[in-house]
Amino acid sequence: MAGKVFFSVSMSLDGFVAPEAVPVEDVFSPEGQSDPRVQRWMAKWSELQAWVFPLRFFRENLKLGEGGEEGLDNDIVRATYERTGASVMGKRMFDGGELAWPEEAPFHTPVFVVTHEKRDPWERPGGTTFHFVNDGIEAALDQAREAAGERDVRIAGGGETILEYVNAGLIDEFTIALSPVLFGTGVRLFEGIDASRVALEQIHAEHSPKVTHLTYSVRQR
Ligand SMILES: NC(=O)c1ccc[n+]([C@@H]2O[C@H](COP(=O)([O-])OP(=O)(O)OC[C@H]3O[C@@H](n4cnc5c(N)ncnc54)[C@H](OP(=O)(O)O)[C@@H]3O)[C@@H](O)[C@H]2O)c1
Repeated sequence: MAGKVFFSVSMSLDGFVAPEAVPVEDVFSPEGQSDPRVQRWMAKWSELQAWVFPLRFFRENLKLGEGGEEGLDNDIVRATYERTGASVMGKRMFDGGELAWPEEAPFHTPVFVVTHEKRDPWERPGGTTFHFVNDGIEAALDQAREAAGERDVRIAGGGETILEYVNAGLIDEFTIALSPVLFGTGVRLFEGIDASRVALEQIHAEHSPKVTHLTYSVRQR
């Protein structure tokens, strides 16, 4: 049986999944650290993801060190990784990750990057291979479904790519980890949503002291 297509993101209470974009090279370069735009980006990103960084599974997967918090949030993050047989992501998410992920990238499955850039597959130790797909979101999803087998396909991000999939009617289900932070500006997840086509049903809600996990199934109106 084919798996589901889903996304799972952290979102600020006012609907943003990333701060306003700054060049990724600046975020991850020593010189960039004194740039106020980079400092603002990092401060907002850290607040948005404050619930996830201390988690045991996240720390182990990103090679940040042993140990960490266990409990509901950790179980949810682990389950999200375990259900995922392949991921799809946009080029901007990939660009940041290429600089930030450890050599053993944290997916351990094929990843399909939707992009205009032509590039050969990039194989990492530990089972992650990035494939660069130049013929659109449906082609990327077809390849991801094939690679995932019976497991689910995760549309990993960022906001622009997720929205394309939602508006194309290709998402079955999604989870928002609603963080208690306000961004005011940034990458707004549902900016440009085709609300006349997309209807939601809440299928799950639970919370830890730090964050609220909301899961919805998606259907076409
Ligand atoms: N809050 C969370 O949980 C979460 C999760 C994931 C990511 N993020 C954040 O989201 C941010 C990135 O999101 P974003 O919305 O700015 O960008 P994005 O969705 O990651 O990437 C957009 C780019 O992907 C390529 N692309 C997308 N659709 C395409 C298509 N149909 N055909 C060809 N190329 C296509 C284009 O790049 P090219 O034209 O250059 O190829 C486009 O500029 C990052 O800051 C990341 O950290 C947050």
